[in-house]
Amino acid sequence: MLKLFLQSLFILFFLLSSGFCIESDNITASSVLKDGDTIVSSGKVYSLGFFSPEKTTNRYLGIWNNVSAISIIWVANRDKPLDDSTGIVTISEDGDILLINGKKEIFWSSNITNSPMNTTAQLLDNGNLVLIDNSNGRIIWESFGHPTDAFLPKLKLNDNPRTGERVLLTSWKTPRDPDFGSFTAGLQALNIPQIFIWNGSRPHWRSGPWNGQILTGVTDMYVVYLDGYSVTKFDDGTVSFMRDYYGKILMKIILKPNGSFVQTMWDVNRRVWNVTWIAPIDVCDVYGKCGPFGNCNLRNSPMCSCLKGYEPKNKEEWDKGNWSGGCVRKTFLQCDRNSNSSDKNKEDVFWKITNVKVPDFMDVSTALEAEECEGLCLRNCSCLAYSHDPGIGCMFWNRSLIDVRQFPVGGSVLQVRVAYSELDKKKDIRVIVIVPVTIGVVIIFIGVFFLWQSMAKRKGANRKGRILTHEVGKAYIRGSSGVVIRDDIDEASLDELPLFSFKMLETATFQFDVTNLLGKGGFGPVYKGKLVNGKDIAVKRLSRASGQGLQEFMNEVVVISKLQHRNLVSLLGCCVEKEEKMLIYEYMANRSLDLYLFNRFQEILDWTKRFNIIEGIGRGLLYLHRDSRLKIIHRDLKPSNILLDEHWNPKISDFGMARIFGGNQDQANTGRVVGTYGYMAPEYAMGGKFSEKSDVFSFGVLVLEIISGTRNTIFYNDDSSLSLLGYVSTLQMV
Ligand SMILES: *[C@@H]1O[C@H](CO)[C@@H](O)[C@H](O)[C@H]1NC(C)=O
Ligand SMILES: *[C@@H]1O[C@H](CO)[C@@H](O)[C@H](O)[C@H]1NC(C)=O
Ligand SMILES: *[C@@H]1O[C@H](CO)[C@@H](O)[C@H](O)[C@H]1NC(C)=O
Ligand SMILES: *[C@@H]1O[C@H](CO)[C@@H](O)[C@H](O)[C@H]1NC(C)=O
Ligand SMILES: *[C@@H]1O[C@H](CO)[C@@H](O)[C@H](O)[C@H]1NC(C)=O
Ligand SMILES: *[C@@H]1O[C@H](CO)[C@@H](O)[C@H](O)[C@H]1NC(C)=O
Ligand SMILES: *[C@@H]1O[C@H](CO)[C@@H](O)[C@H](O)[C@H]1NC(C)=O
Ligand SMILES: *[C@@H]1O[C@H](CO)[C@@H](O)[C@H](O)[C@H]1NC(C)=O
Ligand SMILES: *[C@@H]1O[C@H](CO)[C@@H](O)[C@H](O)[C@H]1NC(C)=O
Ligand SMILES: *[C@@H]1O[C@H](CO)[C@@H](O)[C@H](O)[C@H]1NC(C)=O
Ligand SMILES: *[C@@H]1O[C@H](CO)[C@@H](O)[C@H](O)[C@H]1NC(C)=O
Repeated sequence: MLKLFLQSLFILFFLLSSGFCIESDNITASSVLKDGDTIVSSGKVYSLGFFSPEKTTNRYLGIWNNVSAISIIWVANRDKPLDDSTGIVTISEDGDILLINGKKEIFWSSNITNSPMNTTAQLLDNGNLVLIDNSNGRIIWESFGHPTDAFLPKLKLNDNPRTGERVLLTSWKTPRDPDFGSFTAGLQALNIPQIFIWNGSRPHWRSGPWNGQILTGVTDMYVVYLDGYSVTKFDDGTVSFMRDYYGKILMKIILKPNGSFVQTMWDVNRRVWNVTWIAPIDVCDVYGKCGPFGNCNLRNSPMCSCLKGYEPKNKEEWDKGNWSGGCVRKTFLQCDRNSNSSDKNKEDVFWKITNVKVPDFMDVSTALEAEECEGLCLRNCSCLAYSHDPGIGCMFWNRSLIDVRQFPVGGSVLQVRVAYSELDKKKDIRVIVIVPVTIGVVIIFIGVFFLWQSMAKRKGANRKGRILTHEVGKAYIRGSSGVVIRDDIDEASLDELPLFSFKMLETATFQFDVTNLLGKGGFGPVYKGKLVNGKDIAVKRLSRASGQGLQEFMNEVVVISKLQHRNLVSLLGCCVEKEEKMLIYEYMANRSLDLYLFNRFQEILDWTKRFNIIEGIGRGLLYLHRDSRLKIIHRDLKPSNILLDEHWNPKISDFGMARIFGGNQDQANTGRVVGTYGYMAPEYAMGGKFSEKSDVFSFGVLVLEIISGTRNTIFYNDDSSLSLLGYVSTLQMV
């Protein structure tokens, strides 16, 4: 209510103070802008003129939205107000924009040059006041290069780590005083781009790293074509953060005098500014709330806790709720101890924390896979934690873990290095490795025996078993003899899938040793294994902690057991035992396409191979969509899901997200949009609608990536901020 009242006061003031307007969007050497007049951008979106904040008589030159609830987005003479209404804006003889009063005193100037130039100042429809050199039409100065407190579409927050030049927003001192406040905000491009709000020189808020799509610590950002944000690197070292122009929708993010970012959008019908986003969004969002090595989670009481392996530095202060001191390490790492005396078995381990904003001060190794990060971190004693993001690669921390917060949903996964003894419940699998060979042989025999027994049993009587149901269809797990799958669409079909015993797989993969790790899929790690008969297999193990993975597991069993095609990976069997759920596939000697496509191994893929890979994927997809008994939409086609056998034949894998379509159905909707940024068709990402066409979109992206050897999501083009797709669409056919 009060806000509304203040707003209307504000408006009233404006109506009184801005009298006539000259019908122009520019100021030239021969025209001046007097107090009381305004110039309006050609589409009547923004106005430039004089204003006074409420309850003051100070006059400022500013730009505001030309809508009923005015809001100032730029102020020229913020620290030097005029005290009367004699101010005029003019173009000086040497081409500068000048703000002078009746006594010809200069209150503000664009301050560009001393060399005389013939210029025109023009207000654009995006709110940018530009000074144009009439001789060549070039922009020689722009208000977007000297912003006040508003971040608008097309405004570039620049940072050049080489020269130290930055474009910063500075808050107003108070809601009524546009003078320089204590808060600034901008891009910090060192290592990985992040957006910061600083209070003086101390950080106040941090967005988390930019991963090519989103700011990972801002949970309500989605994807490029929804949010329109981009980060572009230029040859001179400048990095800029920008939001695309939103057409007629008015949107702004203001850095308020209290240090908060407030994003609002203009609702044309209701004639109000809707608040759509605020940062910091809660107390946990404030930089370093819980000190170094602390974790802030609003759901906990108290909200601050130490990360695993750490304890409060000053217990007394901590208990009082003074968390600024943070935490220190409780148990020494293996690294820190005398390396001669330490037991090899007690190697440090990682403790996983999910849904976090990752700490500040990261080091980066780009374009690495998730499974490579752990080894790199483990081998380096100064590495305190790591995190992997597909758009960034591996991030490592060596100084301190500061500004970690946990969200209810979203965020990233952080792996914190802890001493072995901190993770007490972990089974020591290495002991088993050193058990004498004879016992290993016995286990193999037992494994073979069980396999043999289960094969015999399969022919035998039906035994009562557990029934697992899931979204697509139903799968019955019958005794230990096999899995019988029946889905709603194809009731008559019964497929049997060989069942492997846990023991057998454990032996085949050397107790799931990390050296046998092939990669991590959507719901768990994949290991290489060798069966007793010498056949190589790949074992995908559903992580026990993940409840969600079960659905994908059943989905994959249902979908893939119905399919047989040379360009689809084939399932050899599965394992469902106690808490363990595993899928067993044929082993692909050359692993996955993404391992070659985007790095120095590119040259392995000559044009013939690339052509065959594209053709093979096309055939596999055609089979899924048209030629198989069912119509299957894969929903997650991307290079890491294309496996390559020893002859470089591509095979589509990972059907955890696939959907089966009924006879004539050709489109469906989903509430839960799953998939990978950069490969999802826009109508799927935005509306959850998927069909054959969404797979074809992903296939298209894949083809472009195979041809160009560039990731769609981290494609930088020098003169624009386009993705690979955007860039390709600008190329002309010849
Ligand atoms: C400036 O505005 C005038 C009148 O509105 C218009 O005729 C003229 O073309 C504009 N000049 C430029 C350089 O845009
Ligand atoms: C914008 O300004 C012009 C000129 O002052 C005015 O005629 C027009 O109604 C304004 N538009 C809006 C949406 O307020
Ligand atoms: C204009 O720029 C010069 C240096 O480029 C600087 O010394 C001077 O203070 C500036 N003047 C104003 C009014 O900003
Ligand atoms: C500046 O340029 C405009 C248009 O190019 C021209 O009409 C005008 O005479 C020029 N003024 C001066 C002082 O050269
Ligand atoms: C900003 O810094 C000043 C001075 O260091 C401090 O008094 C003030 O509380 C800080 N504001 C916030 C919101 O942290
Ligand atoms: C700062 O002010 C804005 C409105 O001006 C408000 O929405 C926000 O909650 C305030 N933030 C804090 C931390 O008080
Ligand atoms: C503004 O908010 C109202 C109610 O919260 C909502 O109905 C409306 O769609 C929003 N308008 C815009 C443009 O977001
Ligand atoms: C909070 O604790 C730190 C030491 O951890 C101390 O230096 C500081 O004075 C304390 N602040 C308050 C307000 O007690
Ligand atoms: C480990 O032992 C070797 C020789 O036994 C010795 O030279 C070395 O200093 C020892 N390292 C540490 C860290 O004690
Ligand atoms: C260890 O990590 C730090 C920081 O992450 C890095 O500066 C250093 O070069 C690494 N050392 C080795 C041997 O890799
Ligand atoms: C951490 O890494 C940075 C950059 O790689 C390096 O400058 C710094 O010395 C390292 N600090 C420690 C404690 O290893």
